[in-house]
Amino acid sequence: MDFVTTGDGSKTLYHADVGEHYHSKHGALQESQHVFLKSGLQFFLEKEDKSSVAVLEVGFGTGLNFLLTAEYCTQHSIGLDYCGIEAYPLSLDTLEQSGYATYVQDKIWKTFTHNYPKALSEYVQLDYFVGLQIPHTKVLDFETEKSFDVIYFDAFAAVHQPEMWNDATLAHVTKFLKPGGVFVTYAITGNLKRSMKALGFSIEKAPGAPGKREMLRAVKLHTARHDGAKPSG
Ligand SMILES: C[S@@+](CC[C@H](N)C(=O)[O-])C[C@H]1O[C@@H](n2cnc3c(N)ncnc32)[C@H](O)[C@@H]1O
Repeated sequence: MDFVTTGDGSKTLYHADVGEHYHSKHGALQESQHVFLKSGLQFFLEKEDKSSVAVLEVGFGTGLNFLLTAEYCTQHSIGLDYCGIEAYPLSLDTLEQSGYATYVQDKIWKTFTHNYPKALSEYVQLDYFVGLQIPHTKVLDFETEKSFDVIYFDAFAAVHQPEMWNDATLAHVTKFLKPGGVFVTYAITGNLKRSMKALGFSIEKAPGAPGKREMLRAVKLHTARHDGAKPSG
């Protein structure tokens, strides 16, 4: 797989078999900052005023969302427990060609790349603030006792991987989110909105990253079911 340069000068990977990029071709860095950092993490932290946060990502890929989250949490002295599910982990060699080292402190980049292989099999505390685990599994096989404050849903688009966006997958993923927790993704469709509402979320059309008008942000209501049952409506 090869890196290509996106609209804002940052790089992303092109997956020829899937026929899609790992990030927006309008700007990988901008998309990650806007959709996941600003609309997900920062929105949650402003709403809840917490000193620690647990993030679950679906589709860890290159680790860009993790790196920016680790940088933000470190700068703001917020404890981070990050779990990035990934069925097809990239090699360390590939990650090192991303150019993402320039977007975070040297210390964060070095602890990430040093611990990446280990994090694929166990939880690793990278430093005082940041812990990382990258469960090497398909999303539907993922199980944990943990629950999370924010979900970064960063699957390939529904046209390429419809099974990642169906009711069963969304119900499975969102059962790990705490009430009041925030689910963000770069896309928004009628089906997605219906599924999330039926799962007990309040939904919001938020402004999208450059190149996309809108994206979905959903907050888990305290009355939502927590057993991963398929939505009935
Ligand atoms: C859009 S890319 C994610 C980009 C990533 N967040 C990043 O910053 O590089 C989608 C990711 O989902 C992964 N994936 C595909 N099918 C999966 C599945 N069934 N379970 C978990 N991950 C899957 C792909 O390998 C890919 O890394």
